[in-house]
Amino acid sequence: MVDNTWGRRVVYQIYPRSFKDSNGDGIGDLNGIAEKLDYLKDLGIDAIWLSPVYQSPMRDFGYDISDYYDIDPIFGNLSDFDSLIKKAHGKDIKVLMDFVPNHTSLEHPWFKESRSSKNNPKRDWYIWKSPKKNGAAPNNWLSQFGGSAWELDKKTHEYYLHTFDVSQPDLNWRNPQVVEEILNVMRYWMKRGVDGFRVDVAYYLFKDPFFRDEPHNPSYSDHHMQYDSLLHIYTSALPETLNMLKTLNNVVNEFDDRFMVCEIYTFLHEIINLYKIVNHQSFAPFNFSFISLPWNVTEQKKFIDEFDELVGHDYFPTYVLGNHDQSRIAAKLGEGAARIAALLQLTLRGIPFIYYGEELGMQDVEIPEEKAKDPMAVNMKGFDFGRDPQRTPMQWDSSKFGGFSDVEPWLPLEKEFKERNVASEKKDKKSFLNLYKSIINLRKTRKSLDEGKLIPLDFKNPNVLGFVRKEKEEKTLILANFSEENQIVDLPEDNWKTILSTRLDVENREEKDQILLRPSEGIILFS
Ligand code: GLC
Repeated sequence: MVDNTWGRRVVYQIYPRSFKDSNGDGIGDLNGIAEKLDYLKDLGIDAIWLSPVYQSPMRDFGYDISDYYDIDPIFGNLSDFDSLIKKAHGKDIKVLMDFVPNHTSLEHPWFKESRSSKNNPKRDWYIWKSPKKNGAAPNNWLSQFGGSAWELDKKTHEYYLHTFDVSQPDLNWRNPQVVEEILNVMRYWMKRGVDGFRVDVAYYLFKDPFFRDEPHNPSYSDHHMQYDSLLHIYTSALPETLNMLKTLNNVVNEFDDRFMVCEIYTFLHEIINLYKIVNHQSFAPFNFSFISLPWNVTEQKKFIDEFDELVGHDYFPTYVLGNHDQSRIAAKLGEGAARIAALLQLTLRGIPFIYYGEELGMQDVEIPEEKAKDPMAVNMKGFDFGRDPQRTPMQWDSSKFGGFSDVEPWLPLEKEFKERNVASEKKDKKSFLNLYKSIINLRKTRKSLDEGKLIPLDFKNPNVLGFVRKEKEEKTLILANFSEENQIVDLPEDNWKTILSTRLDVENREEKDQILLRPSEGIILFS
């Protein structure tokens, strides 16, 4: 059974560059985040996850670390960080750090040493291979950011591996010194008060020791990323990687009440397998089913029912609608469906991860190719792979730069920020923000929504998804109409009262045997 606090927490992802600029350079920072803790508390947030704030040349905006033990001056310094943690803890908000163990920046001193000569003691900290006889790369492995995953280093005439940008060389996890050092990095931050980690690309740590070519993906078509043209059987999800996640989690468990969530895009059964391997309540993989499966009742229901059952009550399910790598949910689904998505995310059993601005219904912002900042957009021009659209500044108010900064922000604000912002949504009773606040509040005050088990319902209607959350005698019923038409639903036997509609225009309405769901409407009912 649940015996740690994480299963109840609502987690909020902050992309620090874009949350709040406190020093007038157009880029968000730690003191800016500290200024907004009251907003987060008021929203009902229990934990924040900060995308990387370590020292970095920012080629991949912090996912390319050049010093694991320090904060990048763009965001502040160690004392700002300590003070943010202290303030957050003072409000009972936990702090998760992003943790990037697969690769460092090219500018990390370890890599500088490693590339300096073939017999440097740090040579083996990264993955180096000699060229093939014809000078070509050692094998066909691809980078997620386009092209080969190998880069020839002129100095020693060997290739180094980079699963991401050429500026992000992969560490060699088969070297025990690397493992030891990285585990110490985790301890260092936990000693500083950090409550745990979001582990970046946790599925990739180990690569095939024989460096075999990866097979072609038969279902690939060329509007997908080139990376998807191969099946990554030799670079992802190796058994060594899964066991290493258990080791990382053991380090997390050296400290009280910490947590670790892993970025892993995979299938249901692999997710479940991971829960079992790591086998601790301080661990969960992200579940991206809302993002990766088609948005229809059949697919989503099938996943949710199976997932909830297989995860069981010993572990915590997670639900994600978006992050800094994914198109925003309101842009993908439209406003009505995004409200339903939020309703499901916040009422299903498990830990919701909210991406900053989702609570406002923030949209993607089109960034012209010549203004692109994200290396995925810069490296793969002509495709729509850039992630800048979902990383634009948080919209606090209707002032010139949206209350984010006093100067032009690093990425442009959404065009509608004057209407869609925290200040105006606070005043609008039917806003997205008030929807999030209301549901989070219900979640905290209603036992069945907090700890209750999930009872799937089948309405034999392909447009309606519903389930009950039940704790002892208390029941909460959730209904969601995925269609653009009215749907009439027979209610399970009980005395039901509608407490909330995703349109925020119904309250405390006694229901009879049937209920009408309006287009794209979701409802919470109490019995
Ligand atoms: C993860 C991050 C992404 C980053 C990549 C390389 O997928 O979420 O933003 O570019 O890892 O670190």
